[in-house]
Amino acid sequence: MNILVTGGLGYIGSHTVIELINAGHKVTIVDNLSNSDISVHHRLNQITQNDIEFIEMDLRDPLLYMVFHEHQFDAVIHFAGLKSVPESVSEPIKYYSHNLHTTINLLNAMEYGNCHSIVFSSSACVYAPSDSPLTEESKTAPNNPYGQTKLMAEEILRSLMGWNTTSLRYFNPVGCHESGLIGDDPKVPANLMPCITKVATGEWESLTVFGTDYDTRDGTGERDYIHVVDLAKGHVAALEKLEGHQVFNLGTGRGHTVLEVLQRFITLTGERVEYTVGPRREGDIDSSIANNGKAKKVLNFECEKPLDDMILDSYRWQKYAMDLRRQ
Ligand code: NAD
Ligand code: WQD
Repeated sequence: MNILVTGGLGYIGSHTVIELINAGHKVTIVDNLSNSDISVHHRLNQITQNDIEFIEMDLRDPLLYMVFHEHQFDAVIHFAGLKSVPESVSEPIKYYSHNLHTTINLLNAMEYGNCHSIVFSSSACVYAPSDSPLTEESKTAPNNPYGQTKLMAEEILRSLMGWNTTSLRYFNPVGCHESGLIGDDPKVPANLMPCITKVATGEWESLTVFGTDYDTRDGTGERDYIHVVDLAKGHVAALEKLEGHQVFNLGTGRGHTVLEVLQRFITLTGERVEYTVGPRREGDIDSSIANNGKAKKVLNFECEKPLDDMILDSYRWQKYAMDLRRQ
């Protein structure tokens, strides 16, 4: 298939581009480089031995339809958007404006280009805090504007009669491609794994464990971490089963606490990771784990990579990213 990938130079988009090409699809990327670097395009070409078409453009640009004038896409995978939960709380209008404007302008351009198939990056944060494992039928009630934009976009997609629209609710993506050439390189790390690797590689002095009084095995928050390469393969599976409106959880169905991830990281890498215990982070919940039965059944999709791969790949990438920053 001929696929447009929006935000294809970002963390999850870039990994998905590799898996799409491995599966024999042709890919065009649109990205405005607001949270990525052009060097990712070069590294994607290196990894895939391909000459991937890249268009530098903001998805809110009224001229986006021209991309559909010049190409005939079979489907779009839509990653582009803003993704920081705390930033969305402090700047909600920016998030509603950006994430919905991008999506609506994209849908208009798709309509113009007679392309009615889309896979959308949603998030487990659309769910109301409730008992895990979460099924696609669990109650939705995001507690921050970022999550609201995801749910609103899902609802827009759900309402498009005659379209094929799939929303993928990711749990906690971590890890990176085994080459160590691409990965998650947030400007201000806030997620657990990038914070651990920052401390392990000496860029940060210490990690704060946010809360040890949760209702979990050891009192620290429990999450369903999914290797980004598995997540990327989930998109290929979803693309091949686009039909009507569908929603899928993408997670392993297994949970790990903060201290379990930290201890395993230390054991596998032999690094010292200093940490202190701090108060709970606002908005955090005890546990978030996917029921992934629907993706297994309908998409025939199962995660293959264990926590050890997530840790070792993240560590390898962080060391490479540090070298890149020094150059
Ligand atoms: P990312 O920031 O690494 O990638 C997003 C890419 O989109 C970047 O390359 C950025 O430059 C581009 N972009 C942003 N706004 C744009 C615009 N207006 N026009 C064109 N390009 C634009 O983020 P990611 O972690 O790869 O996440 C991808 C998607 O998955 C996002 O929609 C995010 O909300 C969603 N998601 C991410 C996670 C996670 O933990 N990383 C979890 C659930 C859902
Ligand atoms: C995991 C656990 C923290 C950092 C977020 C978004 C979600 C999705 C994925 C986009 C929690 C603890 C973390 C640290 C810590 N993104 N922690 N010290 O909060 O589950 O999900 O990213 O869609 O929407 O909310 O992920 O990695 O931030 O936290 O103790 O320095 O690690 O309290 O228990 P989270 P996370």
